[in-house]
Amino acid sequence: MDHFHYRDGQMFCEDVALERIAAEVGTPVYVYSQATLERHARVFREGVGVLPRVHCAFAIKANPNLGVLRVLANQGYGADVVSGGEMVRALAAGMKAKDILFSGVGKTQTELAAALDAGIGQFNLEHEPEGIALAAIAQEKGLSAPAVLRVNPDVDAGTHAKISTGLAENKFGVPISEARAMFARLAALPGLDMRGIAIHIGSQLADLAPLERAYTRVGQLVAELRADGHAISRIDLGGGLGVPYRPGDEMPSPAALGEMAARVTKDWDVEIMFEPGRVIAGNAGVLVTRVIWVKPGIARAYVIVDAAMNDLARPSLYDAYHEFQAVRPTGEQMNGNIAGPVCETGDTFAMDRDFDTVAPGDLGVFRTAGAYGATMASTYNSRSLVPEVLVSGDRYAIVADRIQAATVMAAERVPEWLP
Ligand code: LLP
Repeated sequence: MDHFHYRDGQMFCEDVALERIAAEVGTPVYVYSQATLERHARVFREGVGVLPRVHCAFAIKANPNLGVLRVLANQGYGADVVSGGEMVRALAAGMKAKDILFSGVGKTQTELAAALDAGIGQFNLEHEPEGIALAAIAQEKGLSAPAVLRVNPDVDAGTHAKISTGLAENKFGVPISEARAMFARLAALPGLDMRGIAIHIGSQLADLAPLERAYTRVGQLVAELRADGHAISRIDLGGGLGVPYRPGDEMPSPAALGEMAARVTKDWDVEIMFEPGRVIAGNAGVLVTRVIWVKPGIARAYVIVDAAMNDLARPSLYDAYHEFQAVRPTGEQMNGNIAGPVCETGDTFAMDRDFDTVAPGDLGVFRTAGAYGATMASTYNSRSLVPEVLVSGDRYAIVADRIQAATVMAAERVPEWLP
């Protein structure tokens, strides 16, 4: 459930008309609903709350906007970060260092040192050399780094290949078959406090079965590690729960995830972490855009909007579907294509789709754009960086400015040797 709805013939976010935001901030613009973020955070927490000891860390990569992060910090969420930059944001948003965990396959020594200095709660080690490096840095600082080993359970998450992470051939984690011996070697290092195991098998999962298979494999590994004498206190089950992008899409609920996880982990006696991203932020945001032209095509019309692949990359990157709706629907539908102004054939949001009839000057929205939307934006084609707005009730705030193309250019220079 979200708080984007029609009232008096036009779309509102909570109690703010999108027309008003478009008029005052301009388009394209991302609009997030605070009430929706709060609701999703609560529903997820309650769903997995059936587990006795559970901690939720928002996957910052899904939406790193400071305003959004503050909403989630206020909901008691920690953070799953994958870079020093994300860690700085999590701390700036008010997330506690002990509630921050650091994932990612390419952490640099500088990032590891900064995270140790900040006192973050957990390092998710992606391979043995990373653990050895972290142990050395920690020892030098007289610290012991709390860590878990990310294993690759080799299950097919059944999602898009580019967002699948738990297959043996993916770059993430260590093969589960090697984890037992590697854990023992890492646990023997002074400077490392090896607490458990982490997994994350992919994103936009529409089915709990692959997750259950992965959790079950982790359970077997935990038993083996305990038999070896290791104290296992923490298991990180990652993120990945899918969200409905199309009307009628059915996705497993957080409650169903919690029920399954409680069943599979009932004898584990550990603290369980989750790293949800999309399920919290996805349906809490839309991308508002204005129609520039409706261009007759050979087969069907092209609706050219002022948002493009640089603002919302998911359709061009993953062939992702984002529902398009008119802000003021006429009640009529048209069949056509929707494309942005960027000079690439792939800059399309929809091909051969039925959607609300729109005309030049009309506003429309791409739904479910709150996760992996603004954060993946670029300034390609020297377009401005898209701004973000957070709505709460009848008020809104610009939580990220539009960075003008001229401002981007101001950070560049022509070297002095060029005539
Ligand atoms: N934990 C780890 C270690 C991850 O790699 C990810 C996502 C998450 C948690 C959060 O997953 P979620 O709950 O959001 O599914 N840009 C792509 C998605 C990339 C996901 C990368 N990892 C997209 O737009 O679909």
